[in-house]
Amino acid sequence: MATRTVAVVLAGGVGERMGAGRPKQLMEVGGRPILAHAVHAFDAHPGIGEVVVVMAPGHLREAAAIAAPFGKTAAVIEGGATRTASTVAALRLLEDRPDDVRVLFHDAARPFVDRPVIDRVLDALDDGEAVAVGVPSSDTIVVVEDGTVASMPPRETLTRFQTPQGFRLGTIRKAYELALADPGLRATDDCGIVHRYLPDVPIRVVAGSERNLKVTQPLDAVIAEHLASEEAP
Ligand code: CTP
Ligand code: MG
Repeated sequence: MATRTVAVVLAGGVGERMGAGRPKQLMEVGGRPILAHAVHAFDAHPGIGEVVVVMAPGHLREAAAIAAPFGKTAAVIEGGATRTASTVAALRLLEDRPDDVRVLFHDAARPFVDRPVIDRVLDALDDGEAVAVGVPSSDTIVVVEDGTVASMPPRETLTRFQTPQGFRLGTIRKAYELALADPGLRATDDCGIVHRYLPDVPIRVVAGSERNLKVTQPLDAVIAEHLASEEAP
């Protein structure tokens, strides 16, 4: 039987904000590359059938070497100039798969995604089409325009999105089809695409975890190293 659940690990970025001189997902924390942590989390999950890695151009060989030891690695492909383009590359690879396949998109830059978070996404996808992972914001978040507070949404309603984000393949495929036909396309994540182009599709939000941080800036690398040391057996 063909795989019903594919995890796509998005590693197509170059890590500009980290400023490491090479993609941050190749940096090691706890003695192995960030990308290896992310692939491992999905490889080890019994609900995942295949893992696809989307890598930054010019680094495919390094990514393949990191991903190859994991038995569920099905493909390592080249990404695009934006995260959206990298997602599209993965959708192209999956174009022959049936609509009801479940696909999870995960930031390679989040090495500490764990089994309970993946479980919650898969469970919510059993009777849903789109699922996001969120954590409450402990900071107050405001909208600032021209250096002045324009509005203050109530903190209890504000949620910080993490990944993985999970979809029925047919749903995310349709959303991207519409998005790619829109010359004004802009979005930072895949739920953003569904929300904008398929507004009638409810996006379920399940609990993420504070450990599931996105390694983005140099301070995050220090925190990640600490979290990795806590994880060691
Ligand atoms: N990503 C991707 N393809 C891109 C850009 C980003 O697959 N063209 C991936 C990154 O590799 C990362 C995730 O999307 O795992 C979240 O992106 P981000 O944290 O912004 O990573 P970078 O784009 O690499 O970092 P920066 O924005 O600082 O350059
Ligand atoms: Mg980026």
